[in-house]
Amino acid sequence: MNLYGEELASNRLAHTVSKPAAVRDRTIDPDLPEVPQADAPLASALPFNGTECVLYSLARLVEQRDRHTARHSERLAFSGVALGVAMRLDNASLLSLYVGGYLHDIGKVGIPDSVLFKPGKLTAEEWEIMRAHPVRGEEICHPLKSLRGVLPLIRHHHERWDGTGYPDGLRGTEIPLLARVLQVVDIYDALTASDRPYKKAIPVEKALDILHFGVKDEHLDADLVRIFREARIWEKVPTH
Ligand SMILES: [Fe+2]
Repeated sequence: MNLYGEELASNRLAHTVSKPAAVRDRTIDPDLPEVPQADAPLASALPFNGTECVLYSLARLVEQRDRHTARHSERLAFSGVALGVAMRLDNASLLSLYVGGYLHDIGKVGIPDSVLFKPGKLTAEEWEIMRAHPVRGEEICHPLKSLRGVLPLIRHHHERWDGTGYPDGLRGTEIPLLARVLQVVDIYDALTASDRPYKKAIPVEKALDILHFGVKDEHLDADLVRIFREARIWEKVPTH
């Protein structure tokens, strides 16, 4: 089954998800695609089958190696779609954001614990290993034709608007749009998740300020951060 067939994209999204109240109450085009609701049973909502399921399990394995990052990718799947809806993206793009939210860090599967969970600063060599995960993730998913639409999102989710990101140092709109969407929600989640016993979650307003600084420093797409803020995307995803 092709994940990106028009019929499947629209049917699965419509069939498995429904609008949360926060979106329903907005004055928006009634034809807009829908957003997964926060309390939906995720595993059954995932439009994966066969080999895609194996990759999904692999991605979960990466996440669950560290109990403190559990549910990060799940939140990204929701918040990426919510931001995509606010941007009025089509269903195929929303589905890519949904799947990409789950799979974006799958390339971390080959990174040793000693590097992935190192509490201190990484050495130059360790940093190189970390920086390889977007390309490694792309390689893992590349053989699957059904995941072709997600590959740019996996490869480019650590690029930066000013060209200082990796792996390709793309700038501005050279960075695929869906990868830019994932960057915004990824950074917001990293800031607001209390994912370590010693790390306090940053309050929403402070996190929004930091996103704003990310725009000023030219790391993030200003338009997407503005939409994230105006649509109050953080209210449309499961809590940490
Ligand atoms: Fe990553």
